[in-house]
Amino acid sequence: MDNNKLQGREGFGSKAGIIAAAAGSAIGLGNIWKFPYITGLYGGASFLVVYLICIAFIGVTVMLAEFIIGRKAGKNAIGSFIKLAPGKPWFLAGWTGVVAAFMILSFYGVVAGWSLHYIVKAATNAFEGLTPEYVGNLFDGFVSATFAPVVYQVLFMFMTGYIVAAGVGEGIEKYSKILMPLLLVLLIILDIRALTLPGADLGMAFLFSPDWSKINGEVILVALGHAFFSLSLGMGTMITYGSYIGKREDLAETAVQVSIADTVIALLAGIAIFPAVFAFGVEPASGPSLVFVTLPNLFNRMAGGAFFATLFFVLLSIAALTSSISILEVVVAYFIEELRMERKKATVIATVSITLIGMLCSLSNSASLGPALTFGAFGSFFNWMDKLSANYLLPLGGLLICLFVGWHLSREEVAAEIGNEGELETPYLPLFLFATRFIAPVAIAVVFLNGLGLIRF
Ligand code: TRP
Repeated sequence: MDNNKLQGREGFGSKAGIIAAAAGSAIGLGNIWKFPYITGLYGGASFLVVYLICIAFIGVTVMLAEFIIGRKAGKNAIGSFIKLAPGKPWFLAGWTGVVAAFMILSFYGVVAGWSLHYIVKAATNAFEGLTPEYVGNLFDGFVSATFAPVVYQVLFMFMTGYIVAAGVGEGIEKYSKILMPLLLVLLIILDIRALTLPGADLGMAFLFSPDWSKINGEVILVALGHAFFSLSLGMGTMITYGSYIGKREDLAETAVQVSIADTVIALLAGIAIFPAVFAFGVEPASGPSLVFVTLPNLFNRMAGGAFFATLFFVLLSIAALTSSISILEVVVAYFIEELRMERKKATVIATVSITLIGMLCSLSNSASLGPALTFGAFGSFFNWMDKLSANYLLPLGGLLICLFVGWHLSREEVAAEIGNEGELETPYLPLFLFATRFIAPVAIAVVFLNGLGLIRF
């Protein structure tokens, strides 16, 4: 066990701990809130197919590339590039990650705050007997208020900062191990209820029978961006976590397992939500409110609905927490190792500044200040943070990460890292190198250029 630990740094104690922490990072609001709502907005099954292709061909490659960089360097997102390529501009890839972390966590904390609020609503039986329209009004009323959503956002950010301040071993590992399996079980229960609603087949058709005419450049850009978002890629999260992985673990196997777990959870969430969307007459393209309006209606149709609803929003909040700590950890690890700060101080500075940006995200949804915080192509400040980070910064970071592993590191260095210095067979090495050198960079570049309207296909 000892030589599986990293000298002088905190690390994950076991294989189960690594999977739990990396899957805990990947599985979050991205799977249960964002995946269903963008699938609803961008065409259902055809979007899903493009998304799955992005996960399989680009996501798994980038995740393995991040693990390689992190474990080889044993440092944070920026420090890893500095160590492996001293004096070269590659550290800019780490910088895009730290910037993306600020943007993502700012709006992520707001949505997680909604989830916390819904724990209270569910526990006090606030949905019982409401019509689907009224459940929708309840959500709109809450989100467009000025203060209440900010209060919950601040509470959530406080919890995130508290756990990160406690450090990697005790902080992250402990919280993700037990509760994610419980979330899986609860989602399966919801799936069964949703599939037995009258009209469920319409939802299943929406999710699984593709209408190819709905695919265009924007759909592909969003699907690619969401593959990065959902797998926690392109930002250095998996570089930072990779630096905590023991030298004898199989990185490729871990990347595949985490990607599969993440995809399964997203699909189970989709199967719970779309049948209910059609059964209750919710608009599939209704956007960020989709889950928060659809699921309370579903709970209303279940025996013990208030109990299941409370449990669900507790677990969703915890899933969000295991993700948000991984986002904050990127910033904090950078502050500690490059700016030589103490963990506590680094955590306080990072958490407070991100919370302040997040307040602007929350207020941009409010009736009072929203108009003042809404501008340009993406609309609300909330949307700006979401779209700029997910659709542009993360794929850009992923592009640089692939190029770094494919072209900067030597074939021997990559082989040694994924093969644990000759301990493991790596028949997939040529395919992986081809993917990092050509497939992923070219695909990301083409999707970008097309999304920006510079080329058309
Ligand atoms: N993947 C998480 C989710 O789906 C969010 C997240 C955590 C993330 N770390 C990240 C997104 C790093 C992008 C980059 O909810």
